[in-house]
Amino acid sequence: MNPKYQDILYEEIMSICPEDDIDVTYDHIRQMPYLEMVLNETMRLISTVALVGRKLRKDMILKDGLFLAEGTNIVLDLFHLHRSKKIWGPNVMEFNPDNFLSTNMKNKNPYSFIPFTKGIRNCVGWRYAMFSMQILLVHIIKEYEIKTKWKLDDLHYKMKITIAYHNNPEIEFLYRNKNLTK
Ligand code: HEM
Repeated sequence: MNPKYQDILYEEIMSICPEDDIDVTYDHIRQMPYLEMVLNETMRLISTVALVGRKLRKDMILKDGLFLAEGTNIVLDLFHLHRSKKIWGPNVMEFNPDNFLSTNMKNKNPYSFIPFTKGIRNCVGWRYAMFSMQILLVHIIKEYEIKTKWKLDDLHYKMKITIAYHNNPEIEFLYRNKNLTK
């Protein structure tokens, strides 16, 4: 879907882990900032957890004056928060890992991007999940070039707590090693 960014990621991975059959460590991952940017941008456009619920334990008044009474059930819509033009600008629907460059993030509200939420009830598996996805992606991208004719707009989602697709994209995994076949 985004071959240009896949190539940049491949270059980064090969510069840090060029060997075959490598055990990817935390130390390798630390040296791959683009890998984290790619994963963050993916979770921005397709929030793994789309909705998070809360029940208010006391009355609350939001910044814009809206009064919310104790006991109110609230749904936080992370999916649309991460696609808000107000926060991410006019190109919000374009996949671009540069959104997560520190220069582009520094003036954003820290709650602009919360795929694992924040605060005392945030995801306990946050770091484990990130590290697992990073290691997995290093192995996949080292081995395969991923191709699809599908565009982001072709994807349709089921708004459950965790996101699901109505339609499944057709994806090709091409061996990078030309001596091997599919
Ligand atoms: C991409 C992967 C993942 C995402 C995006 C994700 C996201 C989230 C989110 C948004 C919540 C709700 C937090 C809230 O209510 O404020 C949550 C809760 C939780 N997650 Fe994850 N999660 C992921 C993977 C994992 C993994 C791998 C584990 C366990 C190893 C895990 C364990 C938990 C637990 C136990 C909670 C409940 C925390 C609580 O209510 O105190 N998550 N996660």
